[in-house]
Amino acid sequence: MCGIVGYMGSKAAYPILIKGLHRLEYRGYDSAGIALLSDRLELNVYKTKGKVADLERFAESKDVSGCIGIAHTRWATHGEPNEANAHPHYSQSKGLALIHNGIIENYTVLRTELESKGYTFRSRTDTEVIVYLVEYIMQTNRVDLCTAVQLALHQVIGAYAIALIDRNNPDEIIAARKSSPLVVGIGEDEFFLASDATPIVEYTDRVVYLNDEEIAVIRRGEPLKVVNLNNVEITPEIKKLAMNLSQLEKGGYPHFMLKEIFEQPRTLQDCIRGRINIEGTQVVLSGVIDNRDKFLNAHRIIIVACGTSWHAALIGEHLIEDLCRIPVEVEYASEFRYRNPVIHPGDIVIAISQSGETADTLAAIELAKSKGAFIYGICNVVGSSIARATDSGSYIHVGPEIGVASTKAFTGQVTVLSMLALTIAQQKGTLSQTRFEEMVKELQGIPDKLSKVLKNSEVVKELSKIFTYARNFIYLGRGYNYPAALEGALKLKEISYIHAEGYPAAEMKHGPIALIDVEMPVVAIATTDSIYEKTISNIQEIKARQGKVIAIVSEGDEMVRGIADYCIEVPRTLEPFAPLVASVPLQLLAYYIAVNKGRNVDQPRNLAKSVTVE
Ligand code: G6P
Repeated sequence: MCGIVGYMGSKAAYPILIKGLHRLEYRGYDSAGIALLSDRLELNVYKTKGKVADLERFAESKDVSGCIGIAHTRWATHGEPNEANAHPHYSQSKGLALIHNGIIENYTVLRTELESKGYTFRSRTDTEVIVYLVEYIMQTNRVDLCTAVQLALHQVIGAYAIALIDRNNPDEIIAARKSSPLVVGIGEDEFFLASDATPIVEYTDRVVYLNDEEIAVIRRGEPLKVVNLNNVEITPEIKKLAMNLSQLEKGGYPHFMLKEIFEQPRTLQDCIRGRINIEGTQVVLSGVIDNRDKFLNAHRIIIVACGTSWHAALIGEHLIEDLCRIPVEVEYASEFRYRNPVIHPGDIVIAISQSGETADTLAAIELAKSKGAFIYGICNVVGSSIARATDSGSYIHVGPEIGVASTKAFTGQVTVLSMLALTIAQQKGTLSQTRFEEMVKELQGIPDKLSKVLKNSEVVKELSKIFTYARNFIYLGRGYNYPAALEGALKLKEISYIHAEGYPAAEMKHGPIALIDVEMPVVAIATTDSIYEKTISNIQEIKARQGKVIAIVSEGDEMVRGIADYCIEVPRTLEPFAPLVASVPLQLLAYYIAVNKGRNVDQPRNLAKSVTVE
């Protein structure tokens, strides 16, 4: 979703801002723009529909001088993606420029009020009212930019991360946040501003994450000042970034998504590292151990998430119920937050989010918190809003995920959920030590098994050629593999734009089987497990209707091989870990089909990596 970058220092701002926008491209966007306070103290704004590269072409012949500027990638919410609606937006007099991520809910009221005072708007966005309002307050109240922003934000309802620069002040950037992320990077006599740390990491590892309703006052020659909307000063907490630059580059792969798929053996090792003792007799997820009593006494666990994280949550439900005997409910965060759910003070709410910024998940957390639940976060992005809003939690430690379609974060989430279930089960005594140690050993071996799956990537690549022009796909799985089927279908639709549905295999008979004919590819996850025979029956039902079956099977499988049209073998594992090995070929299948179709794999149309608006 919208990306924000800002710079103030002694270097030319333009290349830093453009590079920053490129780093944020992965978030998803449809237009881009930049505002620079030039050497001649002109406030220049350049913006275009399309990609950052289009903006660069547009700015080629323009004055891009200046050591202070703000830049933006926009993911349209109010007003179509075009030049007028792209950010930055000028104030009425063109003395200020502003960029914004979020949604201003009362913008119509504010706009009407300003129109009645003679202001005329240039765009159809909700954003433009903020900069008009700030200028109006500056002029009528004769206050400085920071005070005007404080007063304006008191009138604004909604979510925002904003940054403003002023033609009359080349030494200041004012930035503020509420429910949309904003990070300030502190260098040597220079400051950076961004929606996340990715544009900052190559310049400094010292960052400050702004909290809700905090304003960063960035002034040349002065230390960073943070105040709240009531002008109370807050001591900024400077954090050290753990991320490095190579994690943000493609490392020789044609796409981030492929790189991230192939990274999984290592990322899962990173995820497990330090959490299982050498003997393999103990799993220590410190967030759980620190809150042992809460987990042991929990009557119920609710997991909230969106998208791929929601699929991981479904696997978590199986794991926790199966191993810990605690009832689990999985909810779409966007539904949970608006349906007046029953939450008791003793309930545990687990929020899963790769980005840690998903607006609906954040709102679900706030709701659960207000009802007294204990909130546990499972996030990837360190220092993200969700990581900070939760009472405790575990990072998945898989490194930055840049491809919009989530891959390594999904397997990381499932791995953390596996360790979480094992930790609780051991503490609760719901698993025998023998079974526990068998599972721990198997989990430790999963990274090697994924390496084996990846060695077979050519098989999947070849298979992808047969199905590139399919118009629909069905993905089937049962038990632990049902969420893996949902995730497989989601991967395909996200990046290839082929319609795909995931179903519990036995549900086929209740409707979807009507779709089966010779043109319908069906991906069936049929690894050897307790319901293997049942899954085989479901595959027979598809074959009886001429469907084309691509089966994911355990190594050495003969039964399914005799029925399915194509088989992809994966190493044998314990049933709870089957989704980890089965997901990888499905990620590859989606990837290769999308590449065959010439799709923009890393930045699929209309999608955003970090959905910071509801
Ligand atoms: C977006 C992304 C998905 C992701 C979902 C939830 O839709 O494109 O890949 O699964 O948001 O994001 P989160 O960061 O909360 O896991």
